Amino acid sequence: MNVSARPFDARFSADLMALGVFEKSPLPPSAKPLDDLLGGQIGDAVKSKEFEGKKGQSMLLRGKTPWKRLLLLGLGPQKDFDGEKAREFSGKAANYAAGAKLKKLALTLPGDSLRFAQAVVEGAVLSGYRFDKYKTDKDERHPGPDELFLLCSPHELSRVKAAAAFGETLARVQNQARAVLNEPANVMTPTAIAKAASEMARKHGLSCRVYGKEELKKMGMNSFLSVARGSVEPPAFVFLEKKGPGKPIALVGKGITFDSGGISIKPAKDMDLMKFDKAGAIAVMATLQAAAELKLSHHLIGVMALTENLPSGSASKPGDIVVARSGKSVEILNTDAEGRLVLADALAFACEHDPRLVVDLATLTGAVVVALGEQAAGILGNDEKLMKQLEEAGQATGEKLWPLPLWPEYEEQVKSEFADVKNIGANGAAGTIAGAAFLKAFVKPGIPWAHLDIAGTAWLTHEKAYLAKGGTGFGIRLLVEFLQKHKP
Ligand code: BES
Ligand code: ZN
Ligand code: ZN
Repeated sequence: MNVSARPFDARFSADLMALGVFEKSPLPPSAKPLDDLLGGQIGDAVKSKEFEGKKGQSMLLRGKTPWKRLLLLGLGPQKDFDGEKAREFSGKAANYAAGAKLKKLALTLPGDSLRFAQAVVEGAVLSGYRFDKYKTDKDERHPGPDELFLLCSPHELSRVKAAAAFGETLARVQNQARAVLNEPANVMTPTAIAKAASEMARKHGLSCRVYGKEELKKMGMNSFLSVARGSVEPPAFVFLEKKGPGKPIALVGKGITFDSGGISIKPAKDMDLMKFDKAGAIAVMATLQAAAELKLSHHLIGVMALTENLPSGSASKPGDIVVARSGKSVEILNTDAEGRLVLADALAFACEHDPRLVVDLATLTGAVVVALGEQAAGILGNDEKLMKQLEEAGQATGEKLWPLPLWPEYEEQVKSEFADVKNIGANGAAGTIAGAAFLKAFVKPGIPWAHLDIAGTAWLTHEKAYLAKGGTGFGIRLLVEFLQKHKP
């Protein structure tokens, strides 16, 4: 989608003009000249209380105007308006345009133009993406509008342009991540993702190293390799780096391209969803891309632990014991708790690079879906300040995080009878915390670390105003916002 900003002009020509209206507030100044062209239809709808600006309300008005149709969208009370509601506003307008096959969409910015320009662009660009490339019937495809125009006050134009360009880049990268995430496991193998990562790195001036099975054996990555054993698809361990001043910020992602559970096999129902188990690694790759494209100065490293988790004659078995990269021994009691096994080595490897802080993203537990649903990811870690900063970035970007405790008593749960740690906690209790308690054993003490359990937020089973069903690309906007607030 081509995005640009223009000074507001009621005679701007487009296929659809969208106007946001707050509940119980006067109409915005741009409404008057638009209403004049519509012969007073907006004023009539408001006066008759047919349209009150309630959140979710919409009304289409037509006229012989330069923009042919006007979509009134209710924004709810002005005092509650925020970035997330701005994304919903533009997402709805772009969805309407897509459904009606309209190509040129103009939006008059609600409220404070500059404050919401980035979010408005994000909403429109994100709503334009759908995973429909395998549909051969064109009518079943749903392409969004080609062109988006933000109409803003002239004195803010240059700053709105910059904010719009930032939002466009970020949302486009998020859509690319969603496209990779939605691909099935027969297409997006560890090898294919590692290739995409190295191409991305070359294109954006990052360095990239891909480690294969033999090298990983020599490196003692036995916890990671224990998961890969059951599959004929070769695993790949990707290390990305964006140079910058000082110690790096490390981002670590779980990249299971398909999680069958292994020998502790999952039930057949909904097993297809487990192609999404690579979401953490994809978010890491996309965040490094976004940081490069947006010219953030930070020193970043990204670690992607990519493998399938399948049962076979060579697969790991419950009761197996392996010695991880860090030297700690791990008893594998459930081969379906594989995310923590690949992250054990990925976190240890990241900590060897003397990072300033580490953030990992992983679709780690079904328990976090039970606790928080699709609305928020769980955050756990060893550093209150880092966790608070990430939570604030979550509020600002609509990618919400909610904290769970990681007190020492939970670490007892992952102590093993026969090895240093075991990969499951107490039966049916505090599953998300047990996962984090296991990971903590592989983070070098003293390094601030946060773990984001994105099992509920990485995939939508119900669409949102600006996100179709499927892979969400959760974490990219959140991490870019966190980086922007924490300049090196
Ligand atoms: N990838 C899954 C987590 C998951 C499960 C995400 C369901 C979304 C829906 C993970 O590898 C897993 O299977 N975790 C187990 C851990 C358990 C065996 C300790 C789980 O959550 O059931
Ligand atoms: Zn699993
Ligand atoms: Zn998994």
